[in-house]
Amino acid sequence: MLDQLKTLQSTALTELAHIGDDAALETWRVTHLGKKSAIQGVFDGMKNLTKEERPLVGKAANEARQALQVAFDEKAAALKEAALQRALQTDRLDVTLPGRPLAVGGLHPITQTMRHIYAIFAEMGFQVYRSREVETDEYNFQLLNFPPNHPAREMQDSFYIQSDTDRGDNPIILRTHTSPGQIRSMREYSGYDGGDTLPENPPPVRIILPGMCYRFEPITTRSNIQFTQVEGLAVGKNITLGDLKGTLSDFARRIFGQQVRTRFRAHHFPFTEPSAEMDIECFVCNGAGCTVCKRTGWLEILGSGMVHPVVLRNGGYDPNIYSGFAFGMGPERITMLRHKIEDIRYFWANDLRFLEQF
Ligand code: PHE
Repeated sequence: MLDQLKTLQSTALTELAHIGDDAALETWRVTHLGKKSAIQGVFDGMKNLTKEERPLVGKAANEARQALQVAFDEKAAALKEAALQRALQTDRLDVTLPGRPLAVGGLHPITQTMRHIYAIFAEMGFQVYRSREVETDEYNFQLLNFPPNHPAREMQDSFYIQSDTDRGDNPIILRTHTSPGQIRSMREYSGYDGGDTLPENPPPVRIILPGMCYRFEPITTRSNIQFTQVEGLAVGKNITLGDLKGTLSDFARRIFGQQVRTRFRAHHFPFTEPSAEMDIECFVCNGAGCTVCKRTGWLEILGSGMVHPVVLRNGGYDPNIYSGFAFGMGPERITMLRHKIEDIRYFWANDLRFLEQF
């Protein structure tokens, strides 16, 4: 019996030495260490042995099984290592390959134009002042010198937030322009509460007011119910129409290029006096007249004027001591001119085929 075990062990080990893959190894394990293996047969036959033989055979069988198990484990580890080496040889990792690019988002074209405008005015000493989009009729119109039923309101039909009749002449609306921010910022700077006495020595104001505006308008290639504006306001002592013209002409050169020509055309706004619109020379026809500029040779880009005395006063600045200028421009308009975009609706339609071009 003991000899039989020895033979068993050496045949098994010889076989194992020739094995080169996992499948053969598994067959070997079932044959030599499984439930139906010869060694298991020896254990099963123990009950037929004599008392004296039993411990000897048991010990030898245990040793043989252990030896086979150890040899098996070693072989399994060796095969695994060989497989790894083979994999390293064949699928070698090339760390010099360029990585896959990440999909990065971009800034909305209007955001880009806005930031360009902020940077230009920052260099001229203007700060960004954020004002609310939900306004009262009082701030959006009345304090800007549009009394109730004033015909100039026609141009700015509003969205009403509540069908609230309690508020009488002062309903809550979405702002139709950034100009109510003129009153809000002047009042914050001066500390004026709207009462009878004006504050003394209010500080000068140099701000731009960017943001979304809303008008109840037909949606066309040139007008939309929502759009952005950037308002500007400078208030202080001895501010003149010359400052207005200089600041805005310089702005036009900085955003459209040094060669751009500008002109101021008289206009009317209730909250500025005098008022003017600024045009730039049409860059499509260089002033000769074409369909883009409607044969005038000029393109309108903003409204402006000297702050009306009533508005200065409503902001807490005594119009006998202080003066100022204000302007308002549409970043969509400017972006359309710079990139020759023909339809204003693209900006807020959220179509990536359009947005990804910027
Ligand atoms: N608020 C005016 C508009 O929306 C533009 C403007 C602003 C004009 C400031 C003059 C001064 O049309």
